[in-house]
Amino acid sequence: MLNWLLHFAQMFLRGCDANIHTFTPLIKGCFMRGKLYEALDLWKLMIQDGCEPNVVAYNTLIHGLCSNGSLEEALQVCDQMQRSGCLPNVTTYSILIDGFAKSGDLVGASETWNRMISHGCRPNVVTYTCMVDVLCKNSMFDQANSLVEKMTLEGCTPNTMTFNTFIKGLCGNGRVEWAMKLLERMQGHGCLPNITTYNELLDALFRMNKYEEAFGLFQEIEARNLQPNLVTYNTVLYGFSRAGMMGEALQLFGKALVRGTAPDSITYNTMIHAYCKQGKVKIAAQLVERVSSMKEWHPDIITYTSLIWGACNWMNIEEAMAFLDKAINQGICPNFATWNALVRCFFRLFRSYGTNSYSG
Ligand SMILES: *[C@@H]1O[C@H](CO)[C@@H](O)[C@H](O)[C@H]1NC(C)=O
Ligand SMILES: *[C@@H]1O[C@H](CO)[C@@H](O)[C@H](O)[C@H]1NC(C)=O
Ligand SMILES: *[C@@H]1O[C@H](CO)[C@@H](O)[C@H](O)[C@H]1NC(C)=O
Repeated sequence: MLNWLLHFAQMFLRGCDANIHTFTPLIKGCFMRGKLYEALDLWKLMIQDGCEPNVVAYNTLIHGLCSNGSLEEALQVCDQMQRSGCLPNVTTYSILIDGFAKSGDLVGASETWNRMISHGCRPNVVTYTCMVDVLCKNSMFDQANSLVEKMTLEGCTPNTMTFNTFIKGLCGNGRVEWAMKLLERMQGHGCLPNITTYNELLDALFRMNKYEEAFGLFQEIEARNLQPNLVTYNTVLYGFSRAGMMGEALQLFGKALVRGTAPDSITYNTMIHAYCKQGKVKIAAQLVERVSSMKEWHPDIITYTSLIWGACNWMNIEEAMAFLDKAINQGICPNFATWNALVRCFFRLFRSYGTNSYSG
């Protein structure tokens, strides 16, 4: 609050130009904290003060509105900007196209693109990448491919972001073979893949049970001296556990720890799920105890659902109920998946009673 007052006091002491420089970061800050109305109030205040917003100020407002999903309002601001003689630049159009891309709105993105061209503004690599994104979100991969070729012809070199966007789109659509080809092609463009590129590909390969390719790719990361991050470790752990390779999973878990990558709840839950799937429910429960006693992590409903599922499958319903009790005592609320696991457990129990009475 005090900060605010201080800013205000300063603003009224300065001239208009200084005000824009003070207002713009303030407006940006409001947007970043999700305070849409405060940001708009500040904008009004700035205008009332007689300040002419510059392109940086307009772009900040447009970006904030787009982040809030208020695309219509963002377009209106762009119109108003043009009317007041402050020409939207390539950043303005990229922000708008990115806004449309985030919601997969191809029509909105294309209209903005055309408007940009008709105003004589040349797209840059960011603008092209946003268009690749919206095309991918609409599963128009051939068109995305053509656009990447077109930008190259027009002297705008695609970068890692462009290829990552394309690869992510393909992977999300199960087109992992095509995505793997792009990994090669991007290097032909002198564009190096980074760990994000590999993470996308690994995730897609594992989801499609292409273990060999995935493990090969994981080795390529090491060979390239790229540092795997937490997402990489979690993705590969998930892969190992899907493939039933618990030994490898444990080794990798150890490696992540040694390299100073702190596990998160996804890491722990992946390990616990893997143990439970293998029938090693006791070990899973011990891991939960040990890690949560170190206060590094608190088990959640996903953890307990794995344990309950494991107990149902490999132990008995009493053990499963004990885990449920424990969860509830810790204030963890069971969800649909938890009840589903338990119901299956009861069904199995009933079925075995039924069989007994029938045969007896
Ligand atoms: C467009 O405006 C932004 C401010 O948001 C500025 O950083 C950028 O340099 C401008 N770009 C061009 C090409 O003038
Ligand atoms: C937009 O801002 C309003 C007001 O702050 C907020 O209620 C709404 O959730 C925001 N929408 C998005 C998509 O962020
Ligand atoms: C990888 O490149 C993308 C651009 O597509 C960038 O946003 C991301 O931060 C980079 N990741 C790392 C870990 O450097």
